[in-house]
Amino acid sequence: MTRTLRVRSFPLDSGLEVAELTQAYHLYGRLNARRDNAVFVFHSLTGNALAAEWWQGVVGPGCAIDTERFAVFCPNLLGSCYGTRGLPSGTAVTPRDMARLAARLLEAHDVRSVALVTGGSLGGMVALEWAVQLPAVTRAAVAFGAPAAHSAFAIGYNHVQRRALELGGEAGFALARMAALLTYRTAPEFEARFGRETRADGLFQVQSYLDYQGDKLVARMDPASYRTLIDAMDAHDVGRDRGGIAAALQPCGASLYGVGITGDLLYPPAEVQAWVAAAGGHYRELESTHGHDAFLLEPQAVNEILREALDRNGAASATTQLEVAS
Ligand code: COA
Repeated sequence: MTRTLRVRSFPLDSGLEVAELTQAYHLYGRLNARRDNAVFVFHSLTGNALAAEWWQGVVGPGCAIDTERFAVFCPNLLGSCYGTRGLPSGTAVTPRDMARLAARLLEAHDVRSVALVTGGSLGGMVALEWAVQLPAVTRAAVAFGAPAAHSAFAIGYNHVQRRALELGGEAGFALARMAALLTYRTAPEFEARFGRETRADGLFQVQSYLDYQGDKLVARMDPASYRTLIDAMDAHDVGRDRGGIAAALQPCGASLYGVGITGDLLYPPAEVQAWVAAAGGHYRELESTHGHDAFLLEPQAVNEILREALDRNGAASATTQLEVAS
């Protein structure tokens, strides 16, 4: 069920204060009597609060994020257009802001210990931010395909999208999505899937696929929100004003899992491995031909990693005395 939390006088990373925000979130399952079975799932760039839909096989009954065992909170991230409201148009936000706003749900639900925070891509960046901000309440944090700071290469890819958005209209937005999609997948996958196949009208199938995906996003997302979110990704740097990445992450190192994805063009495995080593966390690798999007497309491998993180960090204890969450 999708709910909302009203937050007044919310200070942003930029120094601005927003008079009132409405944090939308979906809650699957129920909090137990000890209120220690909460899991937070953060969506990626174009995702929403419906984690059981976009992370099918990962969030649901019997999955690693078992909605019969855990109270699964999935906030719509600040800046996104799927329910969270109140940000004046054009206001810059960061993954720090997104994590800090989502954390207001803890107090609202009287939760003092969280079994797991997780997400992929932008969601992974927010999970890292959360872990840094709340090491004492976070028993495990798993970031899939996410950097500790947005790299020059990733900023470059986003800049191409930004310029496409600035062309204006639906065509510009669709172009941004197409450019992004090429970084979410791999050459071998496209080769196996489309090769040099053409449609009856002569268009290559890969062209047809990209056109379709561009149009599909245009039909479902607000380009201004998309722009806010890619700007936020570029601002991501867990080490900023915290003495660098290692100093920021070390306090939560043992609870931290960083998952690199083979063939990820955006956030290559070596980059993930480097911050995990600096943090003293656990590195795991998701092997897939899909590249960056593998965290959405390989639920079995994702489940294995999440189960390990949950088991190792005592989340399994959070199973008894269910009661309805307030
Ligand atoms: N021509 C036209 N359309 C085609 C096509 C072709 N040659 N080949 C496939 N399609 C269409 C399919 O009909 C299908 O349409 P539908 O979505 O309306 O059912 C769609 O493309 C399937 O897309 P595909 O990418 O193949 O699905 P998938 O199961 O491999 O991946 C997602 C699902 C959600 C991961 C993917 O679609 C997506 O949105 N990726 C981007 C997600 C994202 O934002 N990633 C994180 C970045 S931060």
